[in-house]
Amino acid sequence: MTDYLRLGVNIDHVATIRNARGGGHPDPVKAARLAAAAGADGITAHLREDRRHISDDDIARLTNEIDLPLNLEMAATEEMLSIALRHRPHAACIVPERREERTTEGGLDAAGGQNHLRYYVSSLTEAGARVSLFIEPDPVQLEAAAKLGAPVVELHTGAFCDAYLEDPDSARTRNCLERIQKAAAVADALGLECHAGHGLTFDTVGAVAVIPTIAELNIGHFLIGEAIFSGLDSAIRRMRALMNKARADTRSA
Ligand code: PXP
Repeated sequence: MTDYLRLGVNIDHVATIRNARGGGHPDPVKAARLAAAAGADGITAHLREDRRHISDDDIARLTNEIDLPLNLEMAATEEMLSIALRHRPHAACIVPERREERTTEGGLDAAGGQNHLRYYVSSLTEAGARVSLFIEPDPVQLEAAAKLGAPVVELHTGAFCDAYLEDPDSARTRNCLERIQKAAAVADALGLECHAGHGLTFDTVGAVAVIPTIAELNIGHFLIGEAIFSGLDSAIRRMRALMNKARADTRSA
């Protein structure tokens, strides 16, 4: 069991709101500072090919102005690799990216994309980044990630969160959660550090945070949305408290 569960706050959608009008408000770097003060352990940002939210300048400023470790989410492309090599973020999470998708809709095909991904995993690792692969909670993908030499996997929790939203008590919700639980155990057996994220909310975070071998959660859209109602500081503090409570339950179980 990992003693402490880290929270990476994804600030992409602060930039989404800024970009709706152009200009500089709201500033994702200001949000990152606020997240640090509210108890985030890291800042996560996805520089997409189409720059729909985070910009190149945001990445430069997050690297230079924020003390928390930056986790750069990036597609496995030459352009993103050269940006990562220039800024040398603490961590790089390789994600699949399709222009037409609204968000990162599925995990990477680590098993099918071995030759392509190997180059990005090794180049980023040589540059000193902690490399993770964003994958579905599927043992085949976990084994492929281990073969690629990635030290970390991030399990896609989107299917579980979608199922929970539809019906928290359905067999589908239970199955989705079991897949995450099993995948986290497989990651541990393979010696991979296990992260998780996508779609997590106050209602769904506990079930994932209680899984003992998960070391980090990355959460964005819900926190930024919730900030409209209660403020970003309060939203992050409440999420952090729910994660702490779940981890305390793990310890006492
Ligand atoms: N982890 C990864 C790899 C992601 O791509 C995203 C979305 O950018 C998240 C976590 C956060 O998802 P959400 O914004 O739904 O909390």
